[in-house]
Amino acid sequence: MELFIDTAEIDEIKSLNVTGLIDGVTTNPSLIAKSGRNIIETIEEICNEVSGPVSAEVTATDFDNMLLEGKKLSAIAQNVAIKVPLTFDGLRACKAFSDDGIMVNVTLCFSSAQALLAAKAGASFISPFIGRLDDIGADGMNLISEITEIYDIHGFETKVLAASIRSVQDIIDSAKLGADVATIPPKFLKAMYNHPLTDKGLADFLSDWKKTGQSIL
Ligand code: E4P
Repeated sequence: MELFIDTAEIDEIKSLNVTGLIDGVTTNPSLIAKSGRNIIETIEEICNEVSGPVSAEVTATDFDNMLLEGKKLSAIAQNVAIKVPLTFDGLRACKAFSDDGIMVNVTLCFSSAQALLAAKAGASFISPFIGRLDDIGADGMNLISEITEIYDIHGFETKVLAASIRSVQDIIDSAKLGADVATIPPKFLKAMYNHPLTDKGLADFLSDWKKTGQSIL
C-alpha cells in the first residue's frame, strides 16, 4: 500500500520525506489556503521534494477553465496529478487529461456510482472521502469496500486512494479492504509508529545494556 501525505506544508513534507516512506502528496484548496502560500510555488516546491504523484486541485468548475487551470498546474512538473471534483465537468476534464497522458485524481467521491464513472473516465486515482461520510453517520469504509470490489471485478486500473482519514484505524481498515493508497495527515504517520510498549521495551533494553559497560562502536 502506498502512503501519501495530505498537506501543503512543505516543512512537514520535508521532515517526513527523510524516512523514504512517502509515496506522494495530496493538496486541496483548503490546505493551500491554510498554508497561506501561492499554489504554483507550493506545488513546485513539493514536486522538487517528492518524486511520487503530487495532487494539485483545479478551482474552476466549468470544463474549459478546468482544462486551462489543469494545464498550468500540470506544466509545473511531471509528477503533478491534476485533481478534479467528481462533477459532470470534472469527469469530462478527467477524460481529456487522461487521454493526453496526464495523471488525474478525481476527488470528493462519496458513492460507488461516482467511482465507476471516474474509472471509465481514465482516472489514475479515485478519492473516496471516508471521514466526511462517517461525519454524517454513513459508512465510509463500506464505500472503500464497494469500490475495490467493483474495480477488481472489472479490471479497472484506477487506484483507490482512501482520503479524509480520521484515525490510524481508518488507514488499517482501508489497507485490509485493498485500497491502493491512503493519504494521511502528518500527525497520523507519527501515530502509526508510536507505541507505548515499543518505548517501554526500548527503555528496558537500554537500561540493561548500560549495565554491561559495552559499546558496539
Ligand atoms: C484528499 O485528497 C483530501 O485533501 C483530504 O483527505 C480531505 O480530508 P478532510 O475531510 O479531512 O478535509
